[in-house]
Amino acid sequence: MLFIGIDLGTSAVKLLLMDENGKIHNIVSKEYPLHFPHPGWSEQNPTDWYEQSIAGIKELIKDCDKSQIAGISFGGQMHGLVVLDKQDNVIRPAILWNDGRTTKETNYLNQVIGKEKLSQYTANIAFTGFTAPKLLWMKENEPENFAKISKIMLPKDYLAYCLSGVHCTDYSDASGTLFLDVKNRCWSKEMMEVCNISEDMLPKLFESYEVVGTIKHELAQELGISADVKIIAGAGDNAAAAVGTGTVGDGRCNISLGTSGTIFISSKSFGVDKNNALHSFDHADGNFHLMGCMLSAASCNKWWMDEILKTKDYGKEQENITKLGENQVFYLPYLMGERSPHNDPFARAMFIGMTMDTTREDMTQAVLEGVAFALRDSLEIARSLGIVIESTKICGGGAKSPLWKKIIANVMNLKVEVIESEEGPGYGGAILAAVGCGAFSNVEDAAGKLVKVIDTVEPEQSLVSKYEERYQMFKQIYPTVKELYFKLSSN
Ligand code: XUL
Repeated sequence: MLFIGIDLGTSAVKLLLMDENGKIHNIVSKEYPLHFPHPGWSEQNPTDWYEQSIAGIKELIKDCDKSQIAGISFGGQMHGLVVLDKQDNVIRPAILWNDGRTTKETNYLNQVIGKEKLSQYTANIAFTGFTAPKLLWMKENEPENFAKISKIMLPKDYLAYCLSGVHCTDYSDASGTLFLDVKNRCWSKEMMEVCNISEDMLPKLFESYEVVGTIKHELAQELGISADVKIIAGAGDNAAAAVGTGTVGDGRCNISLGTSGTIFISSKSFGVDKNNALHSFDHADGNFHLMGCMLSAASCNKWWMDEILKTKDYGKEQENITKLGENQVFYLPYLMGERSPHNDPFARAMFIGMTMDTTREDMTQAVLEGVAFALRDSLEIARSLGIVIESTKICGGGAKSPLWKKIIANVMNLKVEVIESEEGPGYGGAILAAVGCGAFSNVEDAAGKLVKVIDTVEPEQSLVSKYEERYQMFKQIYPTVKELYFKLSSN
């Protein structure tokens, strides 16, 4: 049997074809534009996702035995607001996870409804990128569009709908809407009231490994595959990546260095930190997880390489970086504001500490280190809850850099386990499809059998101590400039 995992990312859709032994037969990637109509806004057209996904599937399966394809599932960028009218047409471009326009609505939810109530209803507080504040923004700023809404969906659910005709979502992705009662795995009546929507506007909830339907007949014909191919609900990209890296069950950790950067801790029991600084979400294996999410991770390095240094040779820029733990230059990675732990859409990126002898390498190193320090901020919150983490998996584009993995291992004082396939969400999506098609009894069983660790980057105690000192400095920079960011934003 063959399974398709679709990773609906922010810069591209990445598709992966896997067999029941976990072997990857093909990988295809198709890009689409990301629009920034105003500073801090971030949008995409759902039809671009669909068209590129279909083009990608065609390319992915062109040389395989199509009769073997059994199921399709997803890992999708989370939190994006997709709204459909009565005829299931997209009403406006999707407002994405890294969009920062909802300060007013987020403040209303956190301060007027109140963090305590939000946490009680959903296990989370409001962050600008979450779905519910976006809906409130639409209600206030685009009332004519708001009035047309018949269905609210998340990005990968729009794809699942286009493929199967079913309005569905899964618990992991639904957790990031702020409409889900995470603990009890159901939509929160209170939150629906707060946002003035009814339950029939929300999609039907599934576990990530459950079958939502089969592929539409006409599409099966167009793709040359059986009309019995199952569509499996899938997961938010971080939960899917966790499945794809074997971060399932209790107390396991995964770091994703994609456009966003996340630290994901799987758990068999439900839990929340006292400030809700980490997200408390359902997991794709049927359990729970805690997650810290920074809005710009590998995208900081991409911006630094592509836009500033004007190079595509990322490896070459990292080749001569040798003085780890001694960099005098610091970088704050807040190019799109920041989610965890600061929850500050006005935060911005900055370099600090340069002198006349600062080199290009120092600056590049500072970018990689700044992302690692910012991820450590979330790890520290998990540690403060008594969670003991000694090792982590790693995935995403940034994980291809051996230097970045070494920096992460030493800044975090964690063993970084490198797995055979770093294709996180796409691989996780394919595993969820395999479970949905009955190739495995459950997600933990599948991940246990398919995910293989091929290398471990061990932290070195001398570097850990040096980085500890640098981290203590890093921690002081944001609070020092926080007020200034706010003033800059109103200029
Ligand atoms: C997670 C988050 C991001 C997106 C990126 O909360 O917002 O990781 O899912 O695709």
